[in-house]
Amino acid sequence: MGFHTFDPAKAARLDDESRYQFCSRDELLGALAAGGGADDHLLDLGSGTGFYTTALAPFFDRVSAVDIQPEMHDHFRDNGVPANVSLVESSTDSLPLADSSVDAVVSTMTAHELPLAATLTELRRVLDADGRLVIVDWSAEGRGEAGPPRSERLGAADLRESLTEAGFSVERAEERGETLLIAATSN
Ligand SMILES: C[S@@+](CC[C@H](N)C(=O)[O-])C[C@H]1O[C@@H](n2cnc3c(N)ncnc32)[C@H](O)[C@@H]1O
Repeated sequence: MGFHTFDPAKAARLDDESRYQFCSRDELLGALAAGGGADDHLLDLGSGTGFYTTALAPFFDRVSAVDIQPEMHDHFRDNGVPANVSLVESSTDSLPLADSSVDAVVSTMTAHELPLAATLTELRRVLDADGRLVIVDWSAEGRGEAGPPRSERLGAADLRESLTEAGFSVERAEERGETLLIAATSN
């Protein structure tokens, strides 16, 4: 794991709609290049209570919601799991998924918690050719007015370097107000 894992006792904070000021559903869909009717398999890394998973689910055929903490999946169940979403209890660096079985990966506000290099290697295995990866996370370049301490965060340049080393083609590596956004393909 990275610096720390999110405290399940604070899970209710993840269901607050004011979070859309930092990242909206449509920003994620745009970066994923996903529209209506996609027949794709989406992987949500560190899905938590399902706040973004549930927002994205109507735009994909099926979604695997990966989280290492069973308590977070319990919160997701309490919120209601969409019919096309499967809950997968796993660490992101050892996924119980077949090679090339995933079309797109999204991860929100989680990358700084992950074993990044091993996770990226695992994503290259499970992503299909030209599969897309979108990461939004709190940025080390942000002001620290929300989210984890800046000392625990990564910057867009750090992630660009890690993804490039892992063999991804990085299309976007952007610093925003408090967050960063990365969009890459697996080829
Ligand atoms: C800050 S929460 C964000 C949840 C969700 N992505 C969101 O934006 O609402 C981070 C989540 O990542 C999970 N997590 C942390 N390390 C993980 C790992 N190595 N593998 C899988 N999940 C992990 C935590 O359990 C937690 O639910």
